[in-house]
Amino acid sequence: MRPNPLTVWQLISLFPALLLLKAVGSRASEAEAKCGKDVISRDNQKYSCKCYPGDACYPSAKKWQKFNSTVDGNLSVAFPPAAPCYPSVAGTPTFDAAKCAEVQANFFGQQWTTDQPIANMWTYWTNETCLPFPTENVQTCSRGFYGDYVITAKTKKHIKAGIDFARENNLRLVIRNTGHDFLGRSTGFGSLILNTHSFKDVTFTKRFTGPGNYRGGAVTVGAGMQLRDLYWLANAQSPPVVVVGGECPTVGIAGGYIQGGGHGPMSSFYGMAADQALSFEVVTASGKYVTANAVENRDLFWALKGGGPSTFAAIISVTVKTFPEVPAAGIILNINSTHTNDTELFWKGVAAVHDLSNHWVDHGIFIYHEIATLRLHVQPIVGPNMTAAQINAIAKPMFDALDSQGVPYSSVTKEFPTFFDLYIDMFEDEGAGSSALVGGRIFVRQDIEENASGIIEAYKTATANNAFIIGHVVGPGHGAPIVDNAIHPVWRNASSFSITSISIPGNAPLTEKARVQNLITNVVGEAFREAGPHGGAYVNEGDLEEPNWQQEYWGSNYPRLYRLKQVWDPQGVFYARTTPGTEDWEVIDFGTKLCKKCQRN
Ligand SMILES: Cc1cc2nc3c(=O)[nH]c(=O)nc-3n(C[C@H](O)[C@H](O)[C@H](O)COP(=O)(O)OP(=O)(O)OC[C@H]3O[C@@H](n4cnc5c(N)ncnc54)[C@H](O)[C@@H]3O)c2cc1C
Ligand SMILES: *[C@@H]1O[C@H](CO)[C@@H](O)[C@H](O)[C@H]1NC(C)=O
Ligand SMILES: *[C@@H]1O[C@H](CO)[C@@H](O)[C@H](O)[C@H]1NC(C)=O
Ligand SMILES: *[C@@H]1O[C@H](CO)[C@@H](O)[C@H](O)[C@H]1NC(C)=O
Ligand SMILES: *[C@@H]1O[C@H](CO)[C@@H](O)[C@H](O)[C@H]1NC(C)=O
Ligand SMILES: *[C@@H]1O[C@H](CO)[C@@H](O)[C@H](O)[C@H]1NC(C)=O
Ligand SMILES: *[C@@H]1O[C@H](CO)[C@@H](O)[C@H](O)[C@H]1NC(C)=O
Ligand SMILES: *[C@@H]1O[C@H](CO)[C@@H](O)[C@H](O)[C@H]1NC(C)=O
Ligand SMILES: *[C@@H]1O[C@H](CO)[C@@H](O)[C@H](O)[C@H]1NC(C)=O
Repeated sequence: MRPNPLTVWQLISLFPALLLLKAVGSRASEAEAKCGKDVISRDNQKYSCKCYPGDACYPSAKKWQKFNSTVDGNLSVAFPPAAPCYPSVAGTPTFDAAKCAEVQANFFGQQWTTDQPIANMWTYWTNETCLPFPTENVQTCSRGFYGDYVITAKTKKHIKAGIDFARENNLRLVIRNTGHDFLGRSTGFGSLILNTHSFKDVTFTKRFTGPGNYRGGAVTVGAGMQLRDLYWLANAQSPPVVVVGGECPTVGIAGGYIQGGGHGPMSSFYGMAADQALSFEVVTASGKYVTANAVENRDLFWALKGGGPSTFAAIISVTVKTFPEVPAAGIILNINSTHTNDTELFWKGVAAVHDLSNHWVDHGIFIYHEIATLRLHVQPIVGPNMTAAQINAIAKPMFDALDSQGVPYSSVTKEFPTFFDLYIDMFEDEGAGSSALVGGRIFVRQDIEENASGIIEAYKTATANNAFIIGHVVGPGHGAPIVDNAIHPVWRNASSFSITSISIPGNAPLTEKARVQNLITNVVGEAFREAGPHGGAYVNEGDLEEPNWQQEYWGSNYPRLYRLKQVWDPQGVFYARTTPGTEDWEVIDFGTKLCKKCQRN
């Protein structure tokens, strides 16, 4: 029987429902109804923007001064880190030979960079302004995309004051912890920067007694605490304990890292950092001090565990699980032009390591490795709770594959009494101050099973386009941790995660920037997506232009995250690009003004 065609009347009665469907489908339209009175247009889109210097709504000098006393004098005019190397910035004299020498000596070091009030580790997103070595062509220092004012918050009252001032004056607020963000989310043109790097309180407990069922060891960590310092403190406990953190020593555990998910050397053993969170102390967009855990504000708790940095609240501290220390063993493996110049043989070497991703994570192993043309640097392969003999036995299929195909390499295996000793011995420090565009992809078990060689082909596409690959073999689903949080569910199936990075100065011509962005997104990124169709992407180490970023970064968790953003930050006080709700916003006018998309009624 043929179904009856809809009558005209039925269609008319459906019309409001269709409109509603459209409003839900295209989310920007929900926001568009709420356009304020100061509306500007660009290319047929209307926007309501944050307040910037020159706008009538921007706070007067007097108002800033008054605000300064609210934060006990901890407000400063923000200057790019290398301002002391230049005569002046925006009319204020800044030259200081001794300070300039300090900047020049440290600009490429991570710890110094993280300790500065507004410095960013990756200069691309500062608009590559005010570099520490003035050239003949560039003798002036401009702010570029650095902020205008910075609060070096010392107390939670300062965090609240900063949030309130930004909300009440409609300012762009940027939370800056270490400045690590690959994607420039800890800097912003014309912004008020809220620096949380001074929050270094750390308290260990042997038995967590807070909400929820967990009764093991835990540690409460201030927002500004960096991983290396935390690892040292954890090791100094009696008996020593382990915290799930990143491989990088200067990333902040409680800032962007845990809010984005957080993987690291112990993640194939215990899961993501966000899986370990027991409680957060935060300031909300409305300026309230709030605790979020298994009992209080459970929806916020869920969202903070992987739902995106600087999205739902400003973190003052987080409490995470600790674990007893275990012995550990590690392997370093190199294949480079000292071993061979035969590219075919070289890629066989890469495959010998990476094709085994599922095998590695089945044993709780994590691998950090770097791949460039004729350079594979695997340092290290981490085997928690293993001896050298045990990790060598697990690595036998890799060594067999290398040997049977005649791939030359050098390798060393070491064992340590604790994971901490391995971390200090085998992980290498990284630099700062360079400029690049990045992307990345999570590959899952199924992708490795079905297309391991396709992933190697995608790696070849990457290196052929001058991309550097920072690879991780990591399986946060190993041991099936049961945690309800906002990380992309695809992480539970993951066994490999690769970052791609192409160097480009932040002051390259716009056409060159567009060319490299296209390589990252549509050439390298596309090859990775095709090779790993069942995977996803990682918001902390991903591509700002990732197509379908909502799905790629959060999968089925995205709709709930979008709703929670409207609940916890309806005005958009917090902003970090490609995080929940930011499809309703845009940075216009060549990376300067942050504006909400809207429609004048
Ligand atoms: C060299 C290097 C190595 C890395 N290694 C790893 C790794 O092993 N594993 C991993 O998972 N990731 C790693 N990352 C990525 C890292 O997780 C992200 O860069 C992360 O955002 C850093 O957080 P942060 O707070 O230290 O940095 P920031 O750049 O200061 O902040 C990053 C983001 O978090 C927000 N934020 C910061 N503090 C707060 C706060 N108190 N409250 C609310 N929002 C806040 C900022 O606004 C910004 O959006 C690495 C990055 C680099 C550059
Ligand atoms: C805020 O007050 C402190 C202490 O008086 C002062 O050093 C600082 O320059 C002030 N900041 C601004 C932006 O005026
Ligand atoms: C910042 O605030 C703290 C505590 O509120 C205060 O002790 C300190 O003097 C302030 N710093 C500056 C530079 O004014
Ligand atoms: C950013 O840099 C470009 C040149 O690379 C320049 O034209 C533009 O004015 C800069 N923007 C800001 C806000 O400094
Ligand atoms: C190449 O491998 C050797 C070990 O055989 C190592 O010492 C060297 O650092 C590697 N070179 C690069 C550029 O990674
Ligand atoms: C590879 O080429 C480089 C540069 O020509 C050379 O120094 C190196 O010795 C070569 N490696 C091998 C294994 O032949
Ligand atoms: C470490 O391995 C031993 C057996 O070798 C086992 O008894 C112990 O439970 C393991 N520890 C962890 C934390 O997995
Ligand atoms: C395997 O990866 C390649 C990219 O290298 C891709 O073109 C191909 O479609 C993938 N095949 C499968 C079955 O996923
Ligand atoms: C994880 O893998 C299993 C088995 O292949 C699959 O059924 C499931 O849908 C995957 N989960 C996600 C989130 O992709």
